[in-house]
Amino acid sequence: IPVEPFDLVIFGGTGDLARRKILPGLYRRFLAGQMPVESRIIGAARGDLTDEAFRQMVAEAIAEFVPGDRRDDKMIAAFLERVGFVSIDAKGTGGWDQLAARMRPGVVRAFYFSVAPALFGDLAERLHAHGIADAQARIVVEKPFGRDLASARALNAVLAAHFDEHQIYRIDHYLGKETVQNLMAVRFANILFEPLWKAEYIDHVQITVAETVGVEGRGAYYDKSGAMRDMVQNHLMQLLCLIAMEPPYHFDPDAVRDEKLKVIRALDAPLPEDIVRGQYLPGGGQGGYVEHSENPQSRTESYIALKCHISNWRWKGTPFYLRTGKRLRARASEIAITFKEPPHSIFDDAKGWRENVLVIRLQPNEGMNLMMMIKEPGPGGMRLMQVPLDMSFADALGADAEDIPDAYERLIMDVIRGNQTLFMRGDEVEAAWAWADPIIAGWEARGDRPQGYDPGSSGPEDALMLMHRDGRRWREIKG
Ligand code: BG6
Repeated sequence: IPVEPFDLVIFGGTGDLARRKILPGLYRRFLAGQMPVESRIIGAARGDLTDEAFRQMVAEAIAEFVPGDRRDDKMIAAFLERVGFVSIDAKGTGGWDQLAARMRPGVVRAFYFSVAPALFGDLAERLHAHGIADAQARIVVEKPFGRDLASARALNAVLAAHFDEHQIYRIDHYLGKETVQNLMAVRFANILFEPLWKAEYIDHVQITVAETVGVEGRGAYYDKSGAMRDMVQNHLMQLLCLIAMEPPYHFDPDAVRDEKLKVIRALDAPLPEDIVRGQYLPGGGQGGYVEHSENPQSRTESYIALKCHISNWRWKGTPFYLRTGKRLRARASEIAITFKEPPHSIFDDAKGWRENVLVIRLQPNEGMNLMMMIKEPGPGGMRLMQVPLDMSFADALGADAEDIPDAYERLIMDVIRGNQTLFMRGDEVEAAWAWADPIIAGWEARGDRPQGYDPGSSGPEDALMLMHRDGRRWREIKG
């Protein structure tokens, strides 16, 4: 279904995110017939580019980041006709009148702030001063949304000076991932799981986001951030919220976000002994974290594992184990929900016994897997074995899976539709920082050093212990 025609201005239009994600994503939506032909995309950046030169850049981005079978010369040419460029001085006056002149009445206006957060205030103010943003205009901002509670509050205040909350779209691209949204469908569109979705029946939850890449090339940013700020405070926290939240009364932006906020507020601070931080060592012909971050003294973590509890009726007593890291064995993100054993076993086969586990694979090979007990086939008597009820979304959906928009495509279309369900509200971001800040302050005060781990491994030794001492095990990280 096409969205309404729009004018989308991308500040930072020549930047990396625009080239890799935003522009190729828009082309794909155009190809899919979702972006109406009356729409316009305007790149805005400091450089002095002509419309033609910017179009050339967009064409190159499409050639680089859109797979060959999705590139159609005629469609690319038609898409480029809708693309233009304005050279803009975010902190001065240059370019703003030209930008105002390009905006058309009667179409949705959206402004993507794909720039450093230090510029958010300047952009917001000038959009208003030049009458470019109307009351329905939307602005899109990227993470990192602050680096602690104080800076997130300051950013929220800067934006709130010129825009209402319903106009502000804070991106967490994990919320745009197909399987992440499927979490809500699985929970709230099936009767099967929800009655069991509580501490009484769930032993523990594991959330893993493992990456094989290191921080080379972005060490300067990353070293001031670390896995806690870069991944846990936002992406893993959002996943945890979707698993743990109460059913919202409706699939409506504020109803969903109200429920997520309650989870974050009920989240206990993990004890220091329930957190393991790691830093990857050199190996496999590559430098280690300290070389990549160019900071030999660095105490920043490229891996973190932690155990936390949610203090509410539903979850009291069920631990949530979270881990994420760089340069690990495989790129694999999944959520695993391990159920408790039945209260009484009528079978003697204690050996074959395993718990039920529901695994939601976020990437790669998106899908779901439910580990079930059955009888081992054959004449050997009542022996039990565990088998997977395995569903790959690609197999289940066939060719349609190719047309599933990636996270950015979906989120940008949601901005145009005016649907904030998959975007973080200001109070949510602040609550997440309010949880993370004291944890970070704790290890900074103690001068904690992360434990080294080998690249290609599944993380530091101590992270294994975090589970072992509770009589549990991490699932294997498999691509
Ligand atoms: C980003 C982080 O937000 O998410 C990166 O800044 C990380 O460090 C990336 O690599 C992971 O995203 P994805 O979609 O590849 O899992």
